[in-house]
Amino acid sequence: MRLILAPMEGVIDYTLRELLTGLGALDRCVTEFVRVSDLLLPPRVFLRYCPELKHGGVTTAGVPVYLQLLGSDPPAMAENAARAAQLGARGIDLNFGCPSKTVNRTQGGAVLLRQPERVHAIVDAVRRAVPGSTPVTVKIRLGYDDNSLLEDNVRGIAAAGPTELAVHARTRRDAYRPPAHWEQLARIREWIQVPVIANGEIWSIEDAQRCRQASGCDDLMLGRGILSRPDLACLIRANDQQRELEPLPWPAVLALVIRLFETMRDIYKPRHVGNPVKQWLAYQRYYFPQAARLFERIKRLQNPVDIHAALCQEIMLAGS
Ligand SMILES: Cc1cc2nc3c(=O)[nH]c(=O)nc-3n(C[C@H](O)[C@H](O)[C@H](O)COP(=O)(O)O)c2cc1C
Repeated sequence: MRLILAPMEGVIDYTLRELLTGLGALDRCVTEFVRVSDLLLPPRVFLRYCPELKHGGVTTAGVPVYLQLLGSDPPAMAENAARAAQLGARGIDLNFGCPSKTVNRTQGGAVLLRQPERVHAIVDAVRRAVPGSTPVTVKIRLGYDDNSLLEDNVRGIAAAGPTELAVHARTRRDAYRPPAHWEQLARIREWIQVPVIANGEIWSIEDAQRCRQASGCDDLMLGRGILSRPDLACLIRANDQQRELEPLPWPAVLALVIRLFETMRDIYKPRHVGNPVKQWLAYQRYYFPQAARLFERIKRLQNPVDIHAALCQEIMLAGS
C-alpha cells in the first residue's frame, strides 16, 4: 500500500520534498512541472526542477523523485523525457490534470483530456523514448467538462503501457470542490490492468479508508491533506500496520515551518523569503488553529527578520 506525495506546482519544491519525505512513510514524490514546448531543454533546466538528480534522483531520505513533464507535442515530450531519464530521473510523470487557464490555453494539462488520441500519442511516444527500466506514470482528472471521455482516455493511456495511472477524482470543471468521486476509480480499475492510484480529498486516516473502500485502490496520493498535516502519511501508514502513532503536535509542526523558512533564507531574495512559509501555514490552518493565528500575524510582514522573530516567538509560546 503505497503513499505518494502529489505534485503541487509552486508548493512542493525540493525543500518541501526534503522536509516531508524526511518524516517517513512516503514512497515517492514528483517535481513541479517542466513545461515542454517544441525544444529539447538543456540539462540545467531538469537539474533546477530536480536537484535530487545530483544525488541519484532520490531525496535525502532515499525517496525516489519522478520528473513531471507538461506539454502536448508527442515528439518533444519524448525527447525531453529521454533526456530526463539520461540525467538519472527515477521516473517520468506526465501531467494531464492541470486546470490552470494559462496552461490549458497553450494546450497543456487537463484540456488534453478532450483529445484522447493526443493523450495516447504522448504517453506512447514517451514510453517508447525512455528505457524500459524507467517508470512512466500518468496523472489525469476524470475529464475536462465532464467524464464522458474518461473511458477513451483511460483505455488509450493503458494501451501505451505506462507503469501507473494516478487519478484525481474530479473533472477540471469541478476544480477543487468536494467531493472527490472516488467511486469512479472503481470503474477505471475494471477497464484496465495498469495499477491505479487514488487521489483527491484525503485529509485523514478515515478519508484514506473511505477512499480505498470506494475506489478499490490500495495506493493513495496525498495532496493538500499532507500540507495541512505533515505527518498524514505516517498516520495512514501506522494505521495500515495496526500501530499506534501519536499525531505530530503543533510545536513539532512549527519546527518544520521554521526549518523551511531558514532554508528559504539562503535561496530566495529577502522580499520573497516569507512566501513559502505563509503558503504552508495557509494550508496548515485547515488543521491547526495555531497556524491560522500565526498566519494572520505574519501575512503582511515582508522583512525576513520580522518574520523570523514572529516564528521564534510562536515557538516559545507553543513550548510554554
Ligand atoms: C497548488 C497546487 C498545485 C498543483 N500542481 C499540480 C501539478 O503540477 N501537477 C499535477 O498533476 N497536479 C497538480 N495539482 C493537483 C494535485 O496533485 C492533486 O491532484 C489535487 O490537489 C487533489 O488532491 P488533494 O485533494 O489531496 O489536494 C496541484 C494542486 C494544487 C493545490
